[in-house]
Amino acid sequence: MPEPPETAPPSGTGLDEDLAAPKWRFFDEELVRTSLWAKLTHMPALTTAAMGWAWRANRSDLLTALVASSVAALLAAVSLSSVTLVLDALLTEGPITDRVRAALPAVAVVAGVAALSGTVRMVSDLALARMGPQIERLIEMELFSLTTRANLVAFDAEAWADAMYRARDRGLYEVPRMVTACLEGLAGLVGMLSLAGVLAVLHPILLPLLVVSVVPTGWAAMRAARMEYQTQRELSTGRRRRWILGDRMASRDSAAELRSYTMRESLLADYGELADKERDSMLSVAWRQTRIRALGGVAGGVASALTYSTLGLLLVAGLMPLSAVGTAVLALQRAQGQMQRLLHSLNQVYESGLYFSDFEEYRALARAELPPAPTAPAPQELERLEVRKATFTYPTGEEPALKGVSMRVEAGETIALVGANGSGKSTLARLLAGLYTPQEGSVTWNGDDFAALGPAVRDRISVIIQDHTRWPMTARRNVTMAQDCDVTRLGEAARLSGTDEVVAGLPRGWDTLLDTTFASGVNLSGGQWQRLAGARGFYRVADLLIADEPTAALDARAEARFFETIRTHAERTGAAVVLITHRMASVRMADRVYVLEHGEVIEEGTHETLMSTHGRYRELYTLQADAYTDPASRS
Ligand SMILES: Nc1ncnc2c1ncn2[C@@H]1O[C@H](COP(=O)(O)OP(=O)(O)O)[C@@H](O)[C@H]1O
Ligand SMILES: [Mg+2]
Repeated sequence: MPEPPETAPPSGTGLDEDLAAPKWRFFDEELVRTSLWAKLTHMPALTTAAMGWAWRANRSDLLTALVASSVAALLAAVSLSSVTLVLDALLTEGPITDRVRAALPAVAVVAGVAALSGTVRMVSDLALARMGPQIERLIEMELFSLTTRANLVAFDAEAWADAMYRARDRGLYEVPRMVTACLEGLAGLVGMLSLAGVLAVLHPILLPLLVVSVVPTGWAAMRAARMEYQTQRELSTGRRRRWILGDRMASRDSAAELRSYTMRESLLADYGELADKERDSMLSVAWRQTRIRALGGVAGGVASALTYSTLGLLLVAGLMPLSAVGTAVLALQRAQGQMQRLLHSLNQVYESGLYFSDFEEYRALARAELPPAPTAPAPQELERLEVRKATFTYPTGEEPALKGVSMRVEAGETIALVGANGSGKSTLARLLAGLYTPQEGSVTWNGDDFAALGPAVRDRISVIIQDHTRWPMTARRNVTMAQDCDVTRLGEAARLSGTDEVVAGLPRGWDTLLDTTFASGVNLSGGQWQRLAGARGFYRVADLLIADEPTAALDARAEARFFETIRTHAERTGAAVVLITHRMASVRMADRVYVLEHGEVIEEGTHETLMSTHGRYRELYTLQADAYTDPASRS
């Protein structure tokens, strides 16, 4: 009887297991709460940061908006003072025509001030509208400047993807809103203070009443924003998951397999489950928000009633003349409006600030992941690349992917790495390419540590990456990448990799766009893409060429041609080559072979020495050799 498996095979769709794992956990209330509180205390700093972005985006627009919105708010209070004059004139004894005539100059002042304030407001609105796109552009560039510079290993950490998703999804777009809200808030504050001044002159008791009447709504608005953010944050992981699933259901890449493996039902079910959770959370938060807002509204109404009753009492008691009460009613209404505006802006600052802080959080995370400035002089032509006792563990990995690996590559040598899937070959290749830094041990270029050399060392290395990228660009740029096009080198690289045959079949040759999401785009087969990836590696002028399973998708003829040419290429350019392949016949030509197993080098030497020791290499080699030998011809 077979042994029962150690872990039970997953049941159901697999989604339950995913969600049960901490990775996709929906609610981590404690964390959300603490981070929320931390965020509240960070609000002043965040406001300053947002204003800093606005300042860098366009300082004259910012200053215009700042001055104009404050002036507009001040003018509103000035116009109100003129209203008292109008009322005074109208409420005196005498024939109505005389009273109206007496009020006319004050009316003219009110109208003039209103017109002026309207114009100033338009100027401020225009300046604000201009700021949005300018800030967005600046922030977007900052984000992508960080994502493209950060250490590669950061992309394997779990927190990274979540933080980036939050920053990109919403954090990015909240800065302009935050700036607008700050300026609105400032205008509200100026307006409020000047109106409060007017009220204080009329009667000091009106001030506390004003505050009492608007606090409840403000409090409710703050609570509602907090709930909203809390929910959004709790949902972000699940949302990302949903987005990934949605992508698989809608994208071309997975369309074929989705149908072949009849994944439709199960994917839709998974997606639906996530969408249900999200919908329920959103509905629940909408309900709780409405409750809080209603409560705030009722309390605010009671407070307003109290205010107006007090005004009535003041009038009856003869403590205020009618014209003053009339102005007070107007001033109170406007001041309430301004206070609402102020609270609304504060609320908006708070809400946008929470999202903006996601962006700033990601920025801090990314900055911590930026490679340090090089401390060694620029790397020179390769003499010797050496890995010493390197141990590397992925951020999400429990076991090291490489354990105390040592190896070397001398100028002009061809080195082969062999081993089973998952033995650590690609990880080692990335260490050699300066893409990962080992946690223990070192990788040195002519004796200088890669960490001290910085990204400059990558200029001397060309990598044909195993999971090469299918760049949505022309065939030419897929090969030349960031470098200028050198026709001779391009032709050579194309010939070496077999890309010449691919390009010959393209409707616009090298200028064909390799992206079927555009009308003029063309699709290539996996093997054709791999030829392009090979050409990419050959095109780059480098001291070291690392080829990670460069022929896995190639047809037999192209594969044979590739291995013939890689040698020619190395000989002509003098470049050293690190070759990772399962094709043992091609490994034979290497100057030295390293055999990896479970992240360790278990054997090393030339083909001949390794064949003479009866180890893993010999086993792998003979296994393949036998497969190609006609059994009849074997003795
Ligand atoms: N991005 C990653 N995050 C976590 N673990 C990884 C990652 N890439 C590879 N691994 C793990 O590291 C080990 C070595 O992988 P790799 O170097 O790709 O092997 P090979 O290229 O020899 O097939 C494997 O156990 C694999 O699961
Ligand atoms: Mg690999």
